[in-house]
Amino acid sequence: MTRGGAARAPKQCAGQARTAPPPVCAPMVEQTAQIIANERDTGPYFRLRVRAPLIAPRVQPGQFVHVRILPLKHALLRRPFSVFQVAGDTLSLLYKTIGQGTEALARMRPGEELSLLGPLGHGFTVPRPDGEIPLLVAGGYGMAALYLLAQRSPRKGLVFVGGRQRADILCEAEFRALGWEVRVTTEDGSHGEKGVVTEPLRAELQRRAPGRKLFACGPTPMLRAVGRLAAEHGLPAELSLDQHMGCGIGVCLACVVPIKTAGGWEYQRTCTEGPVFDFRQIAWEAAE
Ligand SMILES: Cc1cc2nc3c(=O)[nH]c(=O)nc-3n(C[C@H](O)[C@H](O)[C@H](O)COP(=O)(O)OP(=O)(O)OC[C@H]3O[C@@H](n4cnc5c(N)ncnc54)[C@H](O)[C@@H]3O)c2cc1C
Ligand code: FES
Repeated sequence: MTRGGAARAPKQCAGQARTAPPPVCAPMVEQTAQIIANERDTGPYFRLRVRAPLIAPRVQPGQFVHVRILPLKHALLRRPFSVFQVAGDTLSLLYKTIGQGTEALARMRPGEELSLLGPLGHGFTVPRPDGEIPLLVAGGYGMAALYLLAQRSPRKGLVFVGGRQRADILCEAEFRALGWEVRVTTEDGSHGEKGVVTEPLRAELQRRAPGRKLFACGPTPMLRAVGRLAAEHGLPAELSLDQHMGCGIGVCLACVVPIKTAGGWEYQRTCTEGPVFDFRQIAWEAAE
């Protein structure tokens, strides 16, 4: 890691065994980023845009930044957030206020500064022009991790977005503006179809499964359901796991998940080997 200046190759780039080919690793840096905008989206969700010229141009879809919220002076830990959008030397986050870190973040104003470490982690594999048709599945702020993938994918597909209620449905219009078909589900039926997001996905796969690939980010029960559907239909799927993190750079082991190996399973780090894993690699049963 370098502070503010030159970058060096991160540890996670070296020889990782992965079922899906990893995207090109980007050097990570720590940099002070000035807030350009920090505005409420719907309900508890905010959009934050910062100037981060050393990080923004290097971000791959599904990667994240580890953010030190400078007004939280007593907090040792950074908070991880997927990079939602990138434009030139700026990047945006889409975050939900759930605790002291995100609430402090929501009080910050343009001109104030954050410390960013990134880009971090292995992201999604961008579909090839002649590859499978992508089906994206997002729950709540999981949409933030999938937007860049939709934007950079040469193949357009379907996006299934779900949440508890209307306020949890984020960036529907933006996915549509990229030319993707969007299917909305809310658990209370206040917007789109009533139910959970995997139901319209199940119906779509029953209609037509071959030649498709699933990409998902959201709560763990949703990811497990997506993994089961992929297995039932024999489809590839990449899942972005949401694990609590400490260091974000592979040192503290706070974020480990059980990953299958030839001889059984071993713990791997969500912050470096992930957060995106091929669903066939994840040993869910070992996590129970
Ligand atoms: C790779 C990755 C990408 C993420 N991307 C986003 C994003 O794009 N947008 C977004 O809003 N959030 C994202 N998160 C979750 C985000 O990091 C947490 O919501 C945030 O750290 C909470 O900080 P806090 O100080 O407000 O909450 P805390 O005060 O630390 O915690 C408040 C409550 O939230 C729970 N919590 C804390 N961290 C997580 C977590 N990672 N997952 C689930 N529950 C948690 C705590 O157990 C506690 O109950 C991501 C997490 C990971 C690992
Ligand atoms: S968060 Fe420290 S090893 Fe992953």
